Amino acid sequence: MSQTTPMTMGRMGPHIDRMGADCADDQYIRELTQNALDAIRHRREEASDNTIRGEVIWDIDWTAVDDGAPERLCIVDNGIGMTASDITRYINKLASGAGTLSITSNYGVGAKIAAATRNHAGVLYQSWRDGLGVMAHLWRDPVQNEYGLRRFSVDDRWMECVPLDDSVKPELIDRCGTKVVLFGNDETHRTAQPPPGTANARWLLQYLNNRYFKIPEGVAIRVNEYLGQKPRRVLQNNRSPLRPVVGMYTYLTKHSDSSGTVQLDGAKAHWWVLTERRKDDGRQDMWSYQHVQASAGHAAALYQNELYEMRTGRAGQNVVQAFGVIFGHSRVVIYVEPDEGVTTNHARTMLLRDGRPLPWAAYQEQFRNNLPPEIKALIDSIASKCPDKDDNKSIVERLRPLMNLFAATRYRRNPKGTQALDADLVVPGGTPPATSGSGTAGAGGPHRPPRPGGSYGSHIKNNGLPASPYAPDKIPRVTWVSLARGSRDPGEMEDKAARYFEAQNLVKVNGDFRKFHELVDWCVKEWNLAPTVIPTLRQEIEEWTKQALIEVVMGIEALRGTSPEWGSDACDRALSEEALTTALMTRYHLIYAVKRNIGTKIGKLLDAT
Ligand SMILES: Nc1ncnc2c1ncn2[C@@H]1O[C@H](COP(=O)(O)OP(=O)(O)O)[C@@H](O)[C@H]1O
Ligand SMILES: [Mg+2]
Repeated sequence: MSQTTPMTMGRMGPHIDRMGADCADDQYIRELTQNALDAIRHRREEASDNTIRGEVIWDIDWTAVDDGAPERLCIVDNGIGMTASDITRYINKLASGAGTLSITSNYGVGAKIAAATRNHAGVLYQSWRDGLGVMAHLWRDPVQNEYGLRRFSVDDRWMECVPLDDSVKPELIDRCGTKVVLFGNDETHRTAQPPPGTANARWLLQYLNNRYFKIPEGVAIRVNEYLGQKPRRVLQNNRSPLRPVVGMYTYLTKHSDSSGTVQLDGAKAHWWVLTERRKDDGRQDMWSYQHVQASAGHAAALYQNELYEMRTGRAGQNVVQAFGVIFGHSRVVIYVEPDEGVTTNHARTMLLRDGRPLPWAAYQEQFRNNLPPEIKALIDSIASKCPDKDDNKSIVERLRPLMNLFAATRYRRNPKGTQALDADLVVPGGTPPATSGSGTAGAGGPHRPPRPGGSYGSHIKNNGLPASPYAPDKIPRVTWVSLARGSRDPGEMEDKAARYFEAQNLVKVNGDFRKFHELVDWCVKEWNLAPTVIPTLRQEIEEWTKQALIEVVMGIEALRGTSPEWGSDACDRALSEEALTTALMTRYHLIYAVKRNIGTKIGKLLDAT
């Protein structure tokens, strides 16, 4: 006899709602697609025939539309299918499925949780096994607030799974397969429309393309392109509106100049240098397929053939830059594949090792120190488009006498105090309460806890950790980039002045930033400058901007780690794109310096005001 009475469940509804809250809103797409792929695999295994062609289609439930229903999203597969008892066993029971459940495979809570909690009105399962069709309607009962199979009344009997007429069998299902229809939260919901807040009409295709690394051999996943737009029926003989999901591996292989793998600590970093794409006007155009597939530089984690934590767009550029690709990041894709021993969160949005997120910063540092030659060549080719005018010399000359001002000093909470505190040992949290005289609580005084460190408290050494000032040996490199020269990508530092790369000690200045142009225009007008002088004016503005950035970076870097208030995060914030833009907003001194210099350079051209 068993020694244990297994724990059972009280009310399920609130628990499922709770688990659903852990799911991403679009996770049902992944879970239903994955169930379809699993079903195809099981069908092949059962038949011991690997050549059976698998088909998965995301479409609108046209059969119901013909009966006046709103346009609902559905997915159809020609996998193994389910019998009535399969459905009641697997669909109406948590942590239950035909496959094995484990922390690295099925969690047994996939589609049921992700889809049912977003489709209270129903997730309709229609399934054929050996030519016999059945149907069941999973929903959230609005009276009981419980999830479960809605009962059909047939011939005075209640049934949770009913036989289904072949007239509604989707054409791609021959003898077995499954169709799942999503009803949304009420009967009128048009679930084939993009979810609220999704601007991209092709959100579903984009999601699947960006989710799967490789599509299994002999399986086609296709999406009705007109989902979310003016819906168009896929005709029997014309499947063209069905767009295949290609998977990122195929896409990247086709559209890259080079690729490879860098071994990291506990992971592999797979990388691709994308083939450059340009518009008719010659501008770089890596983004035109972005709404269907991550087509420009981006990064993600790869696990069991799926992509997690994908960062695209501006976030993607930032991550790729953090991998050391400071120029040309719109053309580099990096997928980190961790070694064994990781799992995902319930929402399947993140990878976890020992319950913690992946160490991205460490991966990035290792990759930076091991940049593949092909990526280095790309960086160099774009960096060479940045004119590095030799104005650093005069900046260095000007700053030399001020160098002590940029030395790191130790922070003293009390400037009159004598104790040199080591920054690492100081914690924020106000000043300790004043202690009274010899310490121990006097008669009737409040009880005080023992001193920290016990009796060792009287052995604390004054000046034990002396601060060692340092003079910055490296002055940051500042380089002007612009769209026209091909050294800035669209979206990079958009409408911001500059960006700092700590690891490379580099600052990029956005030559397209409108405030620079306004400044040039203002000077030209105010000082009545001849067109021939404008290049000199620009050069002056660039040089003084450079100097301001050098000072700002050296100044903040001198604070880094010197007190608890200036940890890495604080310094990064102080040198963020916004902060650097702030630093360049002072006008008076810049104009003064420019005017003086330009005056000596071009003599009398300036009006003497
Ligand atoms: N399209 C399908 N074809 C065949 N069986 C399916 C299909 N969808 C779901 N099932 C069965 O239902 C089970 C439960 O699915 P699901 O709720 O997604 O949880 P999980 O996939 O995590 O086990 C699956 O394991 C499978 O046995
Ligand atoms: Mg599943």
